[in-house]
Amino acid sequence: MSFPSAPADYRPSPTLLQGKTILVTGAGDGIGRSAALAYAAHGATVVLLGRTESKLEAVYDEIEAAGGPRPGLVVLDLATASEDNAIHLASGLAQEFPHLDGLLHNASILGERRPVESAGYAAWQEVMQVNVNAQFLLTRYLLPLLQAAPAASIIFTSSGVGRNGRAYWGAYAVSKFATEGFMQVLADELENTSRVRVNSLNPGPTNTAMRRTAYPGERPTDNPAPEDIMATYLFLMGDDSAGITGRAFNAR
Ligand SMILES: NC(=O)c1ccc[n+]([C@@H]2O[C@H](COP(=O)([O-])OP(=O)(O)OC[C@H]3O[C@@H](n4cnc5c(N)ncnc54)[C@H](OP(=O)(O)O)[C@@H]3O)[C@@H](O)[C@H]2O)c1
Repeated sequence: MSFPSAPADYRPSPTLLQGKTILVTGAGDGIGRSAALAYAAHGATVVLLGRTESKLEAVYDEIEAAGGPRPGLVVLDLATASEDNAIHLASGLAQEFPHLDGLLHNASILGERRPVESAGYAAWQEVMQVNVNAQFLLTRYLLPLLQAAPAASIIFTSSGVGRNGRAYWGAYAVSKFATEGFMQVLADELENTSRVRVNSLNPGPTNTAMRRTAYPGERPTDNPAPEDIMATYLFLMGDDSAGITGRAFNAR
């Protein structure tokens, strides 16, 4: 089965995201960091959410130094995030912004990669908490702000092992199947009643800390850097993808 990407000749307008407010989870490192920088470079006010304050501050400084709109910064560990945290986040954002135009669910953890017969329950639960439950909490409570936008986009981050199961990928693979399922359920619910579109995006092998951990034998530079795979992240977040919902994309 093949999955679409942004058109091969896609060249986003420099003002693609001007005036939009976009929340990115896991914005301090890897693909989330690059997406936050790319969104800001195309005019968005980016709300940087992550668990390591110093990394978020570094991204904040990079955006400001490049002349981008002043970002928001939210330190939240999704492994322990509660319903109250999500409610508090939504009410805090509602005081600052009239609406939210985009939500990139990017933060994930790899967890254990081992046979199911020896997998640990605590490790399984942590992966499900960060990769699935936290996505539910943020989506559930940010939805009113997204629905208040003239047009909004939610992107869920998938993986190849969330579309075809593979031995030893355990909770991570199952969490990505759940992510695809969540995307489909939400897209179907919102299709005829809302201007919020919902899609999933598999970045493919990308040179980040997660990839280097998962494939220690690989030469890291054989995979593209996060900043080199941003076309589909921009396409799906901006109005060029208006009307597209419920679809599973590949970044390349
Ligand atoms: N890289 C690949 O080849 C690849 C392939 C397929 C899919 N993906 C998916 O792409 C997305 C980004 O992956 P990546 O490669 O950029 O991974 P990464 O380099 O490990 O970055 C993950 C980001 O998520 C944050 N994060 C992790 N646990 C968190 C928590 N409990 N609370 C808040 N933030 C948390 C990390 O924060 P800290 O930096 O503070 O730890 C980091 O900013 C993930 O959904 C991943 O599954 C990646």
